[in-house]
Amino acid sequence: MNVLDPSAYHAVRRPLLEAETLPPDCYTSEAFFRREIETIFMKVWNFIGRTDDVPAPGDYYTVDFAGVPLLIVRDDHGQVRGFVNSCRHRGAKVVTGKGSARALKCGYHGWIYRTDGTLAACAGMSNSKGFDKADYPLVSVRTETWAGFIFVNFDPACASLESYLGNLGSVFDCYRLENMVCTRRSDYQVACNWKIYVENAMEAFHVPHVHRASINRQRGSTKNDRTFDSTEGNWVVMHKEHEGSRAVLVGDEGFPRMPGLVGKADKGTYYPLIYPSTMLGCTIDCMWFLEIHPLAVDRIRLIVGQCFPKEITQRADFEKIAANYYKRWDMTTREDIEISEIQQQGVSAPFSRPGRLSEHEPLVHAIDNWVLDHVLGVKVEARRFHGFSLQDLDVLPENVVA
Ligand code: FES
Ligand SMILES: [Fe+2]
Repeated sequence: MNVLDPSAYHAVRRPLLEAETLPPDCYTSEAFFRREIETIFMKVWNFIGRTDDVPAPGDYYTVDFAGVPLLIVRDDHGQVRGFVNSCRHRGAKVVTGKGSARALKCGYHGWIYRTDGTLAACAGMSNSKGFDKADYPLVSVRTETWAGFIFVNFDPACASLESYLGNLGSVFDCYRLENMVCTRRSDYQVACNWKIYVENAMEAFHVPHVHRASINRQRGSTKNDRTFDSTEGNWVVMHKEHEGSRAVLVGDEGFPRMPGLVGKADKGTYYPLIYPSTMLGCTIDCMWFLEIHPLAVDRIRLIVGQCFPKEITQRADFEKIAANYYKRWDMTTREDIEISEIQQQGVSAPFSRPGRLSEHEPLVHAIDNWVLDHVLGVKVEARRFHGFSLQDLDVLPENVVA
């Protein structure tokens, strides 16, 4: 099949209960993956770390994203900035790893950059003709923050992060996510296409099977407690109603409920996906994020960030109790990684064919259509996938059973 031909996707474009899944080629084709990098990851706001990773001026870290080496630094004025991590002399990565410095010195020939990216010193250049330091700053990448999350956008002409996120803030303000500290990161390489992991995280249909030994045992896990709210902007969300925290296993000690939660935030867990691949779990006492980097058509880097309110992290018994949360996250992540790799192996089978979606998977359908909108450059006007709502997908029940 020609994976870039819009006529190949009529069945995916139908309403949820008539639709087919994306064809297997979308998870295995190099051409489709290259187009996704070009039309999605190079064009949208990508989550790339937390502001609490760079709390003070001069703090920096480096990260490769979608083939671009990046340097994220908090400048002398407190602003978080992003640069391509490539020296303007002969292109070496200026720094590696993470650290704190008053200026950033390239390890190759010692060129020195200020935290705002301007070139401060470059030994050996005094006889080079027509050379002006001012013409050789680090190449900057648009960087904006929301609620402690740092996003970069490689497209200089892109609209603001605020407009990209639409009404996300109005739902999540009550969690005070900017007050949270990421106390632990688990870093994995997973042998699956990035969409496979995102789709998995945005449906709960698999929970009784894949997570039968872990979160499926929690109180309040019934079939009628999941809802999918309407959103405005490039995000979608699933909510699950339950008792207690979703981030510790039954019987394990947890932290107290956060003050100030309102509405459905107070009654369970929100799972938003910020397109294309940033997912959060916001529950009554903590938050975790999934940061996904596409490495190849069949490989991702997955970072599970584990975050608690600052006050909680200062408790004397923090590490002891946090271990219960870490155990739960490690367990469910292993379960999701295993099934995602199994799915990738299955869709890679030579005779694999598209499947059908159930009413339990409206967000899988929304994600796949959002991807097609970008990759094909053709939007389905009849349904607003950017501002997803159940009505848009012709799924009428108030509660979609999961
Ligand atoms: S490549 Fe950085 S100073 Fe030469
Ligand atoms: Fe899962």
